[in-house]
Amino acid sequence: MKHLYIIGIGSGNPEHMTVQAINALNKAQVVFVPSKGEVKTKLADVRKEICSLYIIAPNVRIIDYDVAARDTTGHSYAQSVDAWHGGIASTYEHLLLENVPDDGVAAFLVWGDPSLYDSTIRIVERVKAWGNVAFDYSVIPGITSIQALTASHRIPLNLVGKPVQITTGRRLAESLPGLADNAVVMLDGEQAFAKIDDPDAYIYWGAYVGTPDEILIAGRLEDVCEEIIATRAAARERHGWIMDIYLLRKGRDFEE
Ligand SMILES: C[S@@+](CC[C@H](N)C(=O)[O-])C[C@H]1O[C@@H](n2cnc3c(N)ncnc32)[C@H](O)[C@@H]1O
Repeated sequence: MKHLYIIGIGSGNPEHMTVQAINALNKAQVVFVPSKGEVKTKLADVRKEICSLYIIAPNVRIIDYDVAARDTTGHSYAQSVDAWHGGIASTYEHLLLENVPDDGVAAFLVWGDPSLYDSTIRIVERVKAWGNVAFDYSVIPGITSIQALTASHRIPLNLVGKPVQITTGRRLAESLPGLADNAVVMLDGEQAFAKIDDPDAYIYWGAYVGTPDEILIAGRLEDVCEEIIATRAAARERHGWIMDIYLLRKGRDFEE
């Protein structure tokens, strides 16, 4: 039977690759690399750099494939994501049928960790459920952008004994002003932090974290909000795209 490795590659620094990830990569005869349009070629470049740095097995094929953008017209969020995943599942099915021999091994390189705001696992499950291609798969964990952010800011993720919420910009904007004590915000295209009106809120923000282009800003949200908005806009203009993440925090260690 074919085998597929879903490999977490870390968040932009090739040195995030774990030994387990490198070993899995070297078992693959075929590596699938998504290209998400011209502006995000840098993400594909990191994946290719990882392949050239770590693959020692001979004759490994690197195959690019297109990921269509999500169509949001006339659908609810859940419907549009469901339809989008269906399209990607068909692409995966074709990739596996056409490029991987029976008993062959293939790999998908997933940004960060495959379990965090990434749908590769659920889409692969969908392909498996269709039953048109016989395969099994394994998941190799990776360093998430959350870990990259906290390491770069040199902070623990949680306050002593306190919980952490992980959410998206869209959800944070919906739930305002009910800010959790400790919230990591990802996938925020609307700078939801700017709508928080809380003198006690502190923010640890990072863009392109872990890469040579990394930008970090930390401080009381009231004090650094405008600086983050301006820095983010300038960086987005300069690079043509941006990936950013932040931790919002209220309170201190050992406070009840
Ligand atoms: C689709 S999610 C993928 C998350 C990924 N699976 C992980 O483990 O971090 C993409 C979001 O992750 C965050 N992200 C990923 N890599 C990042 C990086 N190097 N710097 C800043 N944010 C990053 C951003 O919030 C981005 O919108």
